[in-house]
Amino acid sequence: LKNGLALTPPMGWMSWGYYMCGVKCDENPDKCLNENLILSVADTFYNEGYQEAGYEYIIIDDCWSEKERDLDGRLVPDKKRFPNGMKYIADYIHNRGLKFGMYTNIAAVTCMHYPGSKDYFDIDAQSFAEWGVDYLKVDGCFVKENDLNTGYIELGQELKKAGRPMVYSCSWPYYIQYIHNKKPDYSPIAKHCNMWRNYHDVVLTWPALKVIMKHYQNEYDTISPYHGPGHWNDPDMIIFGTGVLNENQSRVHLAVYLMLSAPILLSCDMNKITRYEKKLLQNLDLIAIGQDMLGVMAKPYQLEQSVTLWVKPHLPKKGDIFHSFSFAVVNLDDQQHLISIFPLAYGVNSTDGYSVMDVFANTFKNNITLKESFEVVVPPEDVILYTLFPL
Ligand code: GLA
Ligand code: GLA
Repeated sequence: LKNGLALTPPMGWMSWGYYMCGVKCDENPDKCLNENLILSVADTFYNEGYQEAGYEYIIIDDCWSEKERDLDGRLVPDKKRFPNGMKYIADYIHNRGLKFGMYTNIAAVTCMHYPGSKDYFDIDAQSFAEWGVDYLKVDGCFVKENDLNTGYIELGQELKKAGRPMVYSCSWPYYIQYIHNKKPDYSPIAKHCNMWRNYHDVVLTWPALKVIMKHYQNEYDTISPYHGPGHWNDPDMIIFGTGVLNENQSRVHLAVYLMLSAPILLSCDMNKITRYEKKLLQNLDLIAIGQDMLGVMAKPYQLEQSVTLWVKPHLPKKGDIFHSFSFAVVNLDDQQHLISIFPLAYGVNSTDGYSVMDVFANTFKNNITLKESFEVVVPPEDVILYTLFPL
């Protein structure tokens, strides 16, 4: 969608993955989706270095509203959990230089049976605009196929009319493919949405991540042409801070999502992010891989049965003629693998050669010429990630 937004993949935090509906606040205060939670995420982004690293959007997912609209047909935030309304939250977030996101559904109810936007596109677009929303996630539960293909376009038009630019996140292709069993036509989707989910919800396990990564590898030819500044495929949230990943798995998770130029949306209790996860999330050489202005999805090469090489070109820096490239060698086996890579075979072409940065070690290796290959030993369930800069 050409609305000037999401020129790099959005980064931030979204409630669903960890807090889910989060309405049982008395019984389960640690998983309560309420004003305090959202403001505390804004404070953490602001105070603990996340904002400087690029994390910006704070997004309330499903289950934020009352069960009924008001007499004017407007959505009403849950009075107990969001006592000061959404404008208050938006102002708080904006005062910290951050951005605010919300959630609705293209059908009459949301996935969790709260009011959805069908028949109310205009009123809801106005509400979101008045509240100061900067990002809108629009789900597609319970929607008919025809309404999917028209609804996202119509709601997008109402958002435009409402006059406040919002990142428009759709689940359109997901519901076409997995609920209506058709191949999505990505060209209207990329035209009308800034990003879109095209696969199942992430759950908080390592195997779920492996399935998502495999899916993106298999679908590379179909989805990569539609991926770029202003229009991104979205493999769903990052599951750091939930205690399910060890250090090498967390390296694989974040490295592959950045190689894909995927949106980076955390979903956790920010206080449970480990020291190591925080270091990864704020490693600027790592983040730069997914946030460059070229926004190309890395291309996968299956080198061995359990070893995939992802290769991603980056926009040349001012004055550079040649692209830099990132190479991620991902090993999902339970044994280490020795892999030799000849970069010339993957499009690098600077005759002066390259400097080689080991992104996780924060060090430079020996420079290489175009005639050389490099060897890496990839431990079990781990990734070696190098960025090559033209000399
Ligand atoms: C769907 C979406 C999730 C989340 C829930 C909320 O499952 O894919 O990301 O928004 O609905 O009910
Ligand atoms: C992260 C947080 C810190 C602290 C530690 C505790 O690093 O950013 O504020 O909570 O975890 O492990």
